Amino acid sequence: MSVTRTYDENTVIIFDTTLRDGEQSPGATLSSAEKLEIARQLSRLGVDVIEAGFPAASPDDLKAVQRIAREVGTPDGPTVAGLARAVESDIRTAWEGVKDAAKPRIHTFLGTSPSHLRMLRIDEEEGLKRIRKAVTLAKSFCDDIEFSPMDAGRTDMGYLIKACSLAVECGATTLNIPDTVGYVTPKEWAEKIEYLINETPGAGPGSGVIWSVHCHNDLGMATANTLAAVQAGARQVEVTINGVGERAGNTSMEEVVMALHTRKSAYDVRTNIDATQFMKTSRMVSNYMGMPVQPNKAIVGANAFAHESGIHQDGVLKDAETFEIMTPESVGLTQSRLVLGKHSGRHALKVRLAELGFNVDGDALNQVFGRFKDLADAKKHVTDADLEALIADEFHKPQEFYRLEDIQVACGTMGMPTATIRIANNKGESFVQAAVGTGPVDASYRAIDAVVDVPNTLIEYSVHSVTEGIDALGEVTVRISPPESGRTFGGYGADSDIVVASVKAYIAALNRMIAAMGHGDIVPEGDAATVNIRADESS
Ligand code: KIV
Ligand code: ZN
Repeated sequence: MSVTRTYDENTVIIFDTTLRDGEQSPGATLSSAEKLEIARQLSRLGVDVIEAGFPAASPDDLKAVQRIAREVGTPDGPTVAGLARAVESDIRTAWEGVKDAAKPRIHTFLGTSPSHLRMLRIDEEEGLKRIRKAVTLAKSFCDDIEFSPMDAGRTDMGYLIKACSLAVECGATTLNIPDTVGYVTPKEWAEKIEYLINETPGAGPGSGVIWSVHCHNDLGMATANTLAAVQAGARQVEVTINGVGERAGNTSMEEVVMALHTRKSAYDVRTNIDATQFMKTSRMVSNYMGMPVQPNKAIVGANAFAHESGIHQDGVLKDAETFEIMTPESVGLTQSRLVLGKHSGRHALKVRLAELGFNVDGDALNQVFGRFKDLADAKKHVTDADLEALIADEFHKPQEFYRLEDIQVACGTMGMPTATIRIANNKGESFVQAAVGTGPVDASYRAIDAVVDVPNTLIEYSVHSVTEGIDALGEVTVRISPPESGRTFGGYGADSDIVVASVKAYIAALNRMIAAMGHGDIVPEGDAATVNIRADESS
């Protein structure tokens, strides 16, 4: 089902930057297949603009943006934007990235605050020259141009007005005002935006220029600042799913959109977002980035609609409105249950998956059907969330250098937790390794390390159940960091056995790290045979 995007003067354009600013979060690296999948889901969600990446950052980034432009940037799909510094080569590469979209946009930016000008070693005059050159060049490729004066939150108003009016004179159609360091407060931000809208020559009401804001969350005020800007007249907001992004993150899309939808009388604006897609989009972004959502996160956190205290439960049971200002269904948290057991066929599974937005056929369907049957055997009800977790676990793995074949653990109070694993590498070799640890997960990770031998530190491990109940599917996300690299890599795994889920997540993170560090041909050393028993030798 595709969304219909319509526009009037009260439409707030939702510009999603999960794939660009969001991907800049530590450890949030995505493969280009994952970016494409997320872009497709963002399109189903109804976002108006997808900032697909920063094409000049690397050839891989360029390719990922090109794929999204071609496959998601269809005539009835979203605008696809590519980011570019105010530098000729960046702008040309950004255009290469987005030119095949039906609605391409180049988004160019230059730091305008005193500290950013100092960092660039330029003065205000030189800044204006660069803006003129960059926007004029971008306009020679594309009609839809966005200009951002970076660190606008700390830029002098007089200079900000000069920079913005010059950008419009050179062809910018959207002026995006970023609070790059998350410094401003709602009241001063609203005043600033209102003043800019009214005082910037060529960009006032009726000019056709769209004013936008892009807020960071360093003081926890990104959502409040963004909403204040909407009240002041901004008609584009730059946001990410789950609020992912540099440092404390960007403004969370689900928070802003649900505030606009739920408090309609306060804001009197509309969006093109189909909010029932939020839960699914949130899970997808969290799983692929290896970044768990905090349980008490507004809208998409596991506890956002959970009522624990007796008084609350009683109230909600009598009348949901007592303690609920929006329904769980309105953000896609359905209780929908697909009760398929041993006797159920793959057709019903295929149909439900298609309803959830996954078109799975042939071998892939057989694969997921096998997993589904195992799960249906282990637990009574298989929910939509279970299916989404299975799909993420089966199909959204990074390039596989190593793969789990089998695992067995022994643990409890009677002895030392021990894990025996069998893993295969991408050369078709299989290794068996046993290790002892402080618990079954630690023992498994030690056994894997003995085979894979890629030094790293586990910096985050989190496990949670997809649904309620003792038989629930467990989801594990981990983040690891190679020594002295400053980089982190995430991995995700789901299984009804949390040790298996933990091992899958760790191997996924290792695979991602190996791919990124260019160690794709890593196989255990020959002399490791003393520790690693090759499967064929051990049998
Ligand atoms: O935070 C920021 O200023 C940015 C710009 C590139 C818009 O991300
Ligand atoms: Zn930003």
